[in-house]
Amino acid sequence: MISQMGGVTIRALDLVTAVAYAVDCVNHHVAEHHVKTAIIAGNIAHAIGIARRDLENLIMASALHDIGFFNSGERLKALDFEYKDSSHAEIGYALLASSPIFSPYADIIRNHHTPYVEMDKNVTNLLSNILFVADRIEVFLKNKVNGNAIEYRDLSNEILSLLRKYTDRHFMPEIVDAVKEVCNVEAFWFDLEGNDSSSPLRRYLGNSQLLFNWDNLYEFARIFRYILDWRSPFTVTHSSGVKAVATSIAELMGFSQVEVAMMGLAAWFHDIGKLAIPLEIINKPGPLTYDEMAIMKRHAYLTYVVLDSVDELDTVKLWAALHHEKLTGDGYPFRLTKPDLTLGSRIMAVADIFAALTEFRPYRQPMTPQKAMDIIKDMTSSGKLCRNVVDCLKRNLDLINDARLEAQKEVLNVYRGMEELICKDRPVMCKIRPYAELV
Ligand SMILES: [Fe+2]
Ligand SMILES: [Fe+2]
Ligand SMILES: [Fe+2]
Repeated sequence: MISQMGGVTIRALDLVTAVAYAVDCVNHHVAEHHVKTAIIAGNIAHAIGIARRDLENLIMASALHDIGFFNSGERLKALDFEYKDSSHAEIGYALLASSPIFSPYADIIRNHHTPYVEMDKNVTNLLSNILFVADRIEVFLKNKVNGNAIEYRDLSNEILSLLRKYTDRHFMPEIVDAVKEVCNVEAFWFDLEGNDSSSPLRRYLGNSQLLFNWDNLYEFARIFRYILDWRSPFTVTHSSGVKAVATSIAELMGFSQVEVAMMGLAAWFHDIGKLAIPLEIINKPGPLTYDEMAIMKRHAYLTYVVLDSVDELDTVKLWAALHHEKLTGDGYPFRLTKPDLTLGSRIMAVADIFAALTEFRPYRQPMTPQKAMDIIKDMTSSGKLCRNVVDCLKRNLDLINDARLEAQKEVLNVYRGMEELICKDRPVMCKIRPYAELV
């Protein structure tokens, strides 16, 4: 269906680096980790003379490589140079491998902490090992200095002797030789201190870089809702529920097929800024303090920022990022009022509230659809939500709620298939099982 949205294409790298930016916003200690790892990997691969297609796959994989980390505590532990736990690599692999578009990156990500002596000799494993080396160099630099090329360059010898310590087992000697070559190139260090971090990547990819059509984009959003929603047991089915409600309302209110598909995309993306919100806040079993709420409110702003970097997603951005705005002007993050909020944004606001109220939260039980409607009606009476949208939901409550349940059950089945992997060493994810009960 979505292919009917025409010949719109976007640069895959723009989208992926935008999402990586959100992933890395979770803590300043990991700021820009993905994009800088991609720059280092690109430089090494270029020095080795990797074929263009493989270089492209490596850069995309590098920009996504840590998506299997669901919480910031684990990510901080990975800043230890000798970090050994590779379960996040397995999760990243499992999330991406199911998709034909992402499977080449999945294979590279899977072994980005695997010693080369444990792997067969082939191109994919060479790329994995380059990613392994690039990731460790980025972590090393991050722990040492703060982004100055001259200071960075002075560390070349330290980097090389550290890598050589591990060449008998972890890092392929030819990759370490390439690192030596790269360290002599001034541009490498300037790349790493640059402000527009994605421009060095464009230099390697040139004009031939991968383009996403709408089908790819849809696939990307489909996978990314898992990465986003599965960070917390309370949100495992959230974006899927919002999508079902928002697209049902849009359809009933006369949106075209293309617009309904765009609404689906916007729903999957609407909370993408939550990637940057610490789990301690998302999972807090009680009301948030003023400061915690301020951090939480940042997610809608970040959804806006992430989607803003891709011009072709302008409408999707507005429908996705304004879901906490209220017609009365007391929503967030822009405090917009009625004239600024289009029907698409108003639908998303209602869909988000309905889906959230019918889900478990750490501080309350899920509400029945009728109870959720009572709250939504109150908010409509006080002028916060759009009456036409709420009337549509009210008139078609059973139909829309059934669509929500069906979508959420489907995603729950996918989650259960991966539960063992996700819960390994993460008892919190398994101890609470609220997602198992849908109402
Ligand atoms: Fe990493
Ligand atoms: Fe939200
Ligand atoms: Fe939401």
